[in-house]
Amino acid sequence: MNFNPNVLDCAAAPIAEAWSWVKNPGSDRLIDMCQAVPAHLPPQSLRDYLGEAIKNGEGATYTDIRGIQPLREALAANISARYETGLDADDIMITAGCNQAFCSVIDALCDKGDEVIIPLPCYFNHNMWLSIRGISQKYLSFDPQTAVPDPNEAASLMTSRTKAIVLVTPNNPTGATYSPACIEQFYQLAREHGLALIVDETYRDFIDSERAPHGLFKHKDWRDHFVHLYSFSKVFSLTGHRTGAVVAGPALLESLKKIQDCTAISAPHAGQLAALYGLQHLHDWKLEKAQELQDRASAIKQAFDHPQLKYRLVCAGAYFAYIEHPYESPSRDVVKRLIQEFDLVCLPGSYFGQAQDKFIRLAFANVYEKHFDEVIRRLIASQA
Ligand SMILES: Cc1ncc(COP(=O)(O)O)c(C=O)c1O
Repeated sequence: MNFNPNVLDCAAAPIAEAWSWVKNPGSDRLIDMCQAVPAHLPPQSLRDYLGEAIKNGEGATYTDIRGIQPLREALAANISARYETGLDADDIMITAGCNQAFCSVIDALCDKGDEVIIPLPCYFNHNMWLSIRGISQKYLSFDPQTAVPDPNEAASLMTSRTKAIVLVTPNNPTGATYSPACIEQFYQLAREHGLALIVDETYRDFIDSERAPHGLFKHKDWRDHFVHLYSFSKVFSLTGHRTGAVVAGPALLESLKKIQDCTAISAPHAGQLAALYGLQHLHDWKLEKAQELQDRASAIKQAFDHPQLKYRLVCAGAYFAYIEHPYESPSRDVVKRLIQEFDLVCLPGSYFGQAQDKFIRLAFANVYEKHFDEVIRRLIASQA
């Protein structure tokens, strides 16, 4: 059997690789700051609803390729309220998670050899999919002072093969939230060059819910240049139900329907029911969890303000803290040691693109504040 060299050359799945370094996965001493998963289950009411629905035979069938109409309507209403716009169900396709949404959008837009502009550090699965598809990644450099990419640098990277700019805000792995003005500049650039601005907003529910994260949906021509990616995984603690969404113009959605039909056929039906329940009934629960995450981000910032600590917090927000480590060694070696000698499971910066070896990522959503002092103690102990 011969294998696709792009897949062979692609980095290994990061979370699985980091866990392969754990000597005793069942140990009580482990502090797991590896994967971006909520520490809590969905609320009991959602679990009761879904259990009953499945018992009654709901959710066992395929759905419309684009997802169930009530979920698409509810998400359109949710986005319209938050972003002060007027979307409807026809602007939306429900996907098997936000990762599948990204992969499908890339497949719809890019051919082998095309180019995509993407800020460093970048979400590893974006990176991996672009490599697998033979799409060239043009990186925007990382400024550790701001953790925000520069649209002017993006302008200088444009060629006739550039098909899209990809942003993730709030960002994985840095936790930075880009300002509406910054996102707008990227949009104008995409419009000027006739390409797509793809914004993965998986973590949008964990920042100020009173304000629109950006004003792109207000542009009359947003459907020609903007693609919004969303996930129900984190907001309603539904990571295993694989439900996300693409919000885009009709031309892109037509292409996505073909891809969806060949891959997932439809997003998991039970996940769609769960997501719909969440949008209809869990508004207050969502705000409560968002506040908890914001408090946790403040707590981790405070915890890193420690005189003996040589690890420097670069940025924190949403689910993540991006940390500069104090060693000359590659981040992979630093993390291996933190895992094997200090039972602190986290990810090396090198998984997030080039020139990230000075950094490590701590995902704090799955660890409560009460553990932060111990995290700091272990980091200090590792300095010895
Ligand atoms: C930026 C970003 N996009 C997408 C995903 C995956 O979302 P989903 O579970 O909906 O596929 C993650 C998960 O960590 C993420 O951090």
